[in-house]
Formats: sequence, structure tokens, C-alpha cells
Amino acid sequence: MKALVLAGGAGTRLRPITYTSAKQLVPVANKPILFYGLEQLRDAGITDVVIVVGDTHAEIEAAVGDGTALGIDVAYVRQDQPLGLAHALLTAEAALGDDDLVMFLGDNLIEGGITEVVRRFTTDRPAAQLLLKQVDDPTRFGVAVLDADGAVQRLVEKPPEPPSDLALVGVYLFTPAIFDAARAITPSWRGELEITDAIQQLVDEGHRVTASTVDGWWLDTGKKDELLEANRTVLAGLTRRIDGEVDAGSDVVGDVVIEAGASLINSSVRGPAVIGANTVLDEVHVGPFTSIADDCHLERCELEYSVVMEGCHIRDVPRLEGSLLGREVSVSRTQRRPAAHRLLLGDHSQVEIAGGA
Ligand code: TTP
Repeated sequence: MKALVLAGGAGTRLRPITYTSAKQLVPVANKPILFYGLEQLRDAGITDVVIVVGDTHAEIEAAVGDGTALGIDVAYVRQDQPLGLAHALLTAEAALGDDDLVMFLGDNLIEGGITEVVRRFTTDRPAAQLLLKQVDDPTRFGVAVLDADGAVQRLVEKPPEPPSDLALVGVYLFTPAIFDAARAITPSWRGELEITDAIQQLVDEGHRVTASTVDGWWLDTGKKDELLEANRTVLAGLTRRIDGEVDAGSDVVGDVVIEAGASLINSSVRGPAVIGANTVLDEVHVGPFTSIADDCHLERCELEYSVVMEGCHIRDVPRLEGSLLGREVSVSRTQRRPAAHRLLLGDHSQVEIAGGA
């Protein structure tokens, strides 16, 4: 069995981060999202991994390399344009050969791994096995309708009037029958070859498509708020480890990781939170559910429920929360006149300034 991991795509919903970075490499609890899936594949015994990459191929290849560090063997396939999940699958067909496969969306996180799901698929071997999760807002997802025996009867992509509340989780198991099905479909209204249409094609041709529901959490990290929620959920499972320097004026409460080389000066951190290597906190309060990556410098500020990527500088900002900062971002207060906010923001940046009636 091989794995197909999709790490291309446009990432429009996570702009401006995705203008310069792959969304699959945005960190959750200071580890790239993509690595969680790759580790779960390895733990399920699947080490032959094909990664589909797009415009951000160089960054993904630099981060994952040949996979040795993660205990897997990685080959890359370039998708010229993000024309849909079924298009990505067809692009990788030659690299996958005629093995069964697990297709894993590189921006999805699921709790507890996929070992049991893979075991069930290899024993039962339907043409496709799907994972489903009950959700509050099915209009945002691919949705499945099951028959009385629990087999998949119908799939609809982002339905305005959802026929069920069972969303498709971004992990699919297929026999090679999926390739002919993907070749038989045409692009949807949004111009993409949809994986839901390819699976529907399997059902319509009389193939057996099964599903099971996921009990634990499933997180799709395509947007800022979803990413912060993913960070919160993963941090909730953190175990305390202090390898950095904490001075006498600082205190660290709860499940907090402080990496080697980080230093806290007159600062407090309330877990769960993670502070990256060589990051300095000087008179800073870090509240729960916050990840600060390596090489950041924060002075006289408060930060909560946020993700800060490498090399950021934050100075004299009384309170930040619900924020996602890309690499080497600088946020500071100034005494310059005239007293005003001065911004240098990329396209599609979002700023909310507090206070004032
Ligand atoms: P999506 O999040 O559905 O699509 P997207 O990345 O284009 O994002 P947006 O809607 O914000 O523009 O993709 C799910 C995963 O599959 C993600 O890791 C990107 C990847 N993908 C591909 O590799 N090729 C594709 O053609 C598409 C559409 C997605």
C-alpha cells in the first residue's frame, strides 16, 4: 500500500500567508501540519509516500526532503495547476502504479492516527473506504448519504441544502479502480475535478464504497480561525518540558514547552503553550493556546490564543489574541508624531484595531 499526500493547491483562504508559504507547512504547536499526517502514515506502516506539490514545491521539498528523517520514502509529483483533488490523483497515477492507496490531504489533522482504518481496508478491501465526521455546518464540506446498511449511496460537494451532516474527512482509501473513475468525470461548476464525483462514479458503477465515522477530532486547517482552533486542540495534549532558561522573575504554569535556547525574562507563560528555540520573552505574558516559533523576540506585550511563526518581533503591544503572524513579521508601538497607526501589509492582509467607539 502506498500513500498519496496532497500538498499543492491554491490556499486562497489562508492569504496572505499562502502568497509566500505553503499552507501545509504552517506550524501547529510548532510543527508543520503536513508532518502530523506523514507521521501517522508511517505509524500505520505506510512508508512509500508520493507527495503532490504545486507552486510551493521548493519549500515542501526543502522541509520534507527524501523523508528519511520522518522514517518514510518520499517521491514528488508536480501538479501544474490546482485543478482539483481527483486531478491531483490522476497526476500521480504513474508514480503510484497499481497499488492500493491512502490519499491524505496535507492540510488535514486527525486525532489518533489511521492504523485501524488501514487495517480495516486491507481486510475488507472495498473499492473505496471513506472517513466521515458529523459536523454542524455541512455546507462547507463534501457530504455523504449512507444507505440502511451503512454503505455510501451518494456524495455531494459543499451542498447548499445538505442531505446529511456527515462530512468527508480528508483521508480516503482506494483500490486502483479510482483512476478509471477519476478519468470518467468532468470538471464541476468550480472548474475542479472533484474527488467526490470520482467516488460517486465508483458507486454508480456498482463498486462497493464503505465508510466509518471518526470519533476523535478532525481539523481542516484551510482558514485562520480553523488553524487557531487546530493549534488549540493539539496544544491541549501537550506535556510540560522546560529546556530553555526561565529567570527568577518569570513563571511558567501548566503544560508548557520551552525549547532549548529560549529565554524568559520577567515573563509569564500559562499553558498550554509552546515557545520555540532561541526565542526571547522580555516582560511578556503569554496566555493559553499560543505557539511562538523559533527566533522570535517579544518585549512588553501580551499574547493569547495565537500562532506566531519564526523570526517575529513584537514590542509594546498591550494585547494580541486570535492572531496568526507569518515569518519575520514586526508589530510595535511607536511614539512618533503624528500619533497614528502605520501599516505595511501585503495583499489580503487583515488587521483589527481594538477599542474606540
Ligand atoms: P483545498 O483546501 O480543498 O484547496 P486549496 O488548497 O486550493 O485551498 P483554497 O480553497 O483555500 O484555495 O485542498 C485540500 C488539500 O489538497 C490541500 O493540502 C491542497 C491540496 N490540493 C492539491 O494538492 N491539488 C489541488 O488541485 C487542490 C484543489 C488541492
